[in-house]
Amino acid sequence: MGAAHAQDARPDAGQIEKGRLLAVAADCAACHTAPKGGAPFAGGYPIDSPLGAIYASNITPSKSGGIGDYTLDDFRRSLRQGIRKDGAHLYPAMPYTSYTQLSDDDTASLYAYFMHGVAPVDKRAPETALPFPFNLRFSMAVWNALFLKNQRFVADASQSAEWNRGAYLAGALAHCSTCHTPRNALMAEQDGKAFLSGGSIGPWYAPNITSDATSGIGAWSEAELVQYLKTGRVHGKAQAAGPMAEAIEHSLQHLPEADLKAIAVYLKQVPAVASAEAKPRFAYGESSNTEVDQRGLATGVDPGWRVYSGSCAHCHQEGGAGTANGNYPSLFHNTATGADRPDNLIATILHGVDRTVDSHAHFMPAFGDKASFTDRLSDQEIADVSNYVLGHYGNPAVKVSVDDVQALRAGGKPPFIARMRPLILPGIVVLIVAFVLIVALRSRSRRRAHQE
Ligand code: HEC
Ligand code: HEC
Ligand code: HEC
Repeated sequence: MGAAHAQDARPDAGQIEKGRLLAVAADCAACHTAPKGGAPFAGGYPIDSPLGAIYASNITPSKSGGIGDYTLDDFRRSLRQGIRKDGAHLYPAMPYTSYTQLSDDDTASLYAYFMHGVAPVDKRAPETALPFPFNLRFSMAVWNALFLKNQRFVADASQSAEWNRGAYLAGALAHCSTCHTPRNALMAEQDGKAFLSGGSIGPWYAPNITSDATSGIGAWSEAELVQYLKTGRVHGKAQAAGPMAEAIEHSLQHLPEADLKAIAVYLKQVPAVASAEAKPRFAYGESSNTEVDQRGLATGVDPGWRVYSGSCAHCHQEGGAGTANGNYPSLFHNTATGADRPDNLIATILHGVDRTVDSHAHFMPAFGDKASFTDRLSDQEIADVSNYVLGHYGNPAVKVSVDDVQALRAGGKPPFIARMRPLILPGIVVLIVAFVLIVALRSRSRRRAHQE
């Protein structure tokens, strides 16, 4: 008894609505609603992890299919500690490492919404079956002991209310760091100094968004950051494709302007992390007339130009400047072509852009495996056109090989933990032993401190 339950008195409409807005800011639908018309929060969407598909649960209030049996305490434990009602550990594909910062108040509002504002769906989501040894969910207890900071957000009194709001939105709700912070060999976000300094997510790369003026977003104005988060495009700087497009489409565009501004204020103060770049990635390139020069050449034609001319130029224009209205963006002064790594250029060619903002679709066709047969480009053609684009409009120091394209087409370079699968069980045993030792030593020294 005691804890609030689905059958308890209905919370007031204000709290349910507050929970709905929090669910939007936390983007619960990104994973728990199957794309293209899935029933809201009924799960079933396979999240491709390097270790295999992880199915997001049905989190509608159905007792048979969803979380209708969850008490408020059960719900909090799953969001903030990654533990299911039945005691099993969740995989961190569910971003409880961020949601752990959520306040008691906000988790209660989310609970009110999921119990009373969402229609129950009785069908269970498919079971996740990762290969051994990752099917051993208890190994996540060790992982959590090492990497989960089970702490609520604490406001920083030395910062403004706006900064604190931004820090809470970015950290506890919108989980920016799950994509933008690099991960260690065990797939946990790296600590401290690397925070928001850039990380891979499948074939995409979520760039450095620390305040560094060259490697990060320090040279973006607050207004530009707000515009990017609201619309996914800033003329002469960047567009959002892939997972960032999804975050904008389902979550960020729906936030109040004041919240986006708070996130921008916060980002501009995230400690700078610099890498070796010479100038900001949006500052590379200029219009080029190679298109005209190459036309009519009998020999020595750049094979990348051929692909560009046939597959790209009718939208991005012959000189790469795009269209004046910005619907087809310029390929210079574009972070996807000026970055010090080609991931987002290649991923864009493979997967296209598909982002609906304010009921307006921003669409570039995919040239990878999902393309129609006539549009499909080979790894060689994508390498060629990438090198053409980088050489003429982007960062000419970056080169793309056929192997690079092949790796990203296959979903990106698998992290260490996936490549080391055969060695993982002994690794886990070592971790458990190390963990037991640490706990034992700690409690011994605590006991000692007590006795002294
Ligand atoms: C990035 C993807 C992602 C987002 C965003 C996300 N979840 Fe999840 N969630 C998952 C996955 C995947 C699982 C299942 C993990 C597993 O099987 O170990 C899960 C499991 C859960 C569970 C456990 C249910 C059960 O009994 O299986 C709850 C409750 C839950 N999520 C609630 C939420 C809420 C509420 C939000 C928003 C505040 C949210 N999730 C956002 C991916 C996500
Ligand atoms: C699901 C993964 C994911 C999440 C969550 C996410 N991002 Fe991103 N972000 C990306 C990727 C990938 C890109 C690159 C997109 C592209 O170039 O098409 C990106 C690009 C950006 C850029 C543009 C940087 C540049 O130089 O082009 C900004 C700014 C940004 N994100 C801010 C944020 C903030 C702030 C949050 C949290 C409120 C956030 N992102 C959450 C994956 C993510
Ligand atoms: C049918 C028109 C069309 C074609 C053809 C096309 N693009 Fe695009 N491209 C777009 C649109 C639209 C966007 C996104 C605009 C936005 O986000 O607002 C885009 C965005 C991009 C971006 C930026 C992506 C990012 O994440 O920042 C790059 C790079 C790019 N295109 C390269 C190419 C290349 C290379 C080709 C040829 C292989 C090509 N495009 C073909 C319309 C097109």
